Amino acid sequence: RTIYVLNGPNLNLLGTREPATYGSDTLQSVEALCRATAEELGVAIEFRQTNHEGEMIEWIQQARFEAQALVINPAAWTHTSVAIRDAVTGVALPLWEVHITNVHKREPFRHHSYLSDVAQGVICGYGIRGYRYALMEAARTG
Ligand code: DQA
Repeated sequence: RTIYVLNGPNLNLLGTREPATYGSDTLQSVEALCRATAEELGVAIEFRQTNHEGEMIEWIQQARFEAQALVINPAAWTHTSVAIRDAVTGVALPLWEVHITNVHKREPFRHHSYLSDVAQGVICGYGIRGYRYALMEAARTG
């Protein structure tokens, strides 16, 4: 039972990137939170980040053979990528979409997601705790 936790572009800069928006937690602390949560839940996770869209697509395709569920913060690709949406629908794994911020109270271009209507659930605006909540759901129902 493995859950892939995948992070999109610029999330490697968490902690230093627009701290007023994203807070001071680093991606490393997101990973630590996910690992602690996974241990509590008795599931394994594969935690990754990439700035390359093709790499993200390959990871989603690979998850088909190795994972029971996907937890993805697609970052900017949320609002741009039909290819990532097609990868998710192609592998037919349940997806929990996570955003640290409440994208609905931000710029209008962040209000549309190419993934939300193919996701099991969407969590936004809970800070990095959103990853924990998504993992709890993915472990329960994924
Ligand atoms: C984000 C929200 C996106 O709009 C943005 O492009 C990101 C991060 C979030 O976690 O709040 O890079 O997905």
